[in-house]
Amino acid sequence: MKALILAGGAGTRLRPITHTSAKQLVPVANKPILFYGIEAMVSAGITEIGVIVGDTRAEVMGALGDGSQWGAKITFIPQDEPLGLAHCVLIAADFLGDDDFVMYLGDNLLEQDLAAFVHAFESARLSSEPPTAQILLKKVPDPHRFGIAELDAAGNVIRLVEKPADPPTDLALVGVYLFDRTINDAVRAIAPSPRGELEITDAIQWLVDQGKIVRQELLTGWWIDTGKLTPLLEANRLLLEVIEPRVDGDVDEASSLDGRVVIEEGAVIRNSTLRGPLVIGKEARIIDSFIGPFTAIGNGCEVVNSEVEHSVIMERSRIIDITRLEDSLIGREAEVIRSQKRPRALRLMIGDHCQIDTE
Ligand code: TTP
Repeated sequence: MKALILAGGAGTRLRPITHTSAKQLVPVANKPILFYGIEAMVSAGITEIGVIVGDTRAEVMGALGDGSQWGAKITFIPQDEPLGLAHCVLIAADFLGDDDFVMYLGDNLLEQDLAAFVHAFESARLSSEPPTAQILLKKVPDPHRFGIAELDAAGNVIRLVEKPADPPTDLALVGVYLFDRTINDAVRAIAPSPRGELEITDAIQWLVDQGKIVRQELLTGWWIDTGKLTPLLEANRLLLEVIEPRVDGDVDEASSLDGRVVIEEGAVIRNSTLRGPLVIGKEARIIDSFIGPFTAIGNGCEVVNSEVEHSVIMERSRIIDITRLEDSLIGREAEVIRSQKRPRALRLMIGDHCQIDTE
């Protein structure tokens, strides 16, 4: 079993962050989203991993290296344009060979371990009616926003519809799929959709139409497609809620820590109140400030005389004299300064290297 992780794409919905960097490398709870996907594959026993990379390939390749930090072997597969999820399978043909594989969208996060999902496919493959694919479904309250599956009485997939106006079920497709080699024929047989992409839903529908068995499993834990700001902050909140408290940095006596708090090595906390769950990255400096729940402050950041809550602040950014910053995503090496006279909280999504002076 191999894995194909998709880390190309345009990332239009997280601009301006994704103007300069890969959306899959935005950190949640101070770890790049993509690392959670790699870890999920490795803990399911899959170490041969292909990663689709697009315009941000230099950054993604630099962050993942050869995969040895996870005991995995990573092969990068460049995609010149984001021509669709099925196009990723098409261009990965040499890497995939005739092997079964997991396809995983690199900006998705799942609570549940994927080992059981993979093993269910492997054992079904040994049955008298082996499936050629297996999808993961999650019941959602707003099915018109997702790819939706319709099942037969035996629980196999009979139809997939993209963002239906009148959804036949509330079963949304999660960004994790299992395939045998037949999918290689499917992605060659289908034509681009009206939006010009080779759709994986069309490829799976092709399998069904050829009389192949497509299994499904229902996900019970949370699943978040982090491609937009609100779900990204939600994922940050869910992951911080279960973080193991640990203080490796330097906290003075004038400061107080409350709840699940992680302070990494080299961080300095002076005269500040930290109310978890939260994480403060390596070498960060928190001076005369309040850091509230569900906040991830990246490595090397500086927060001085400010209040920050429910936000992701990426590496080496500075927040100075801000009355209150909440529900925000701040890029790398950005500066937000001076709003002491403003009564209202700031809500910001700002890109790397930006400088915002609110005066
Ligand atoms: P999407 O969120 O469907 O697409 P996108 O990255 O283009 O984002 P946006 O809608 O904000 O512009 O992609 C899901 C994942 O698959 C994501 O990690 C990007 C990746 N991907 C590719 O690698 N190649 C592709 O051709 C596409 C469409 C997506």
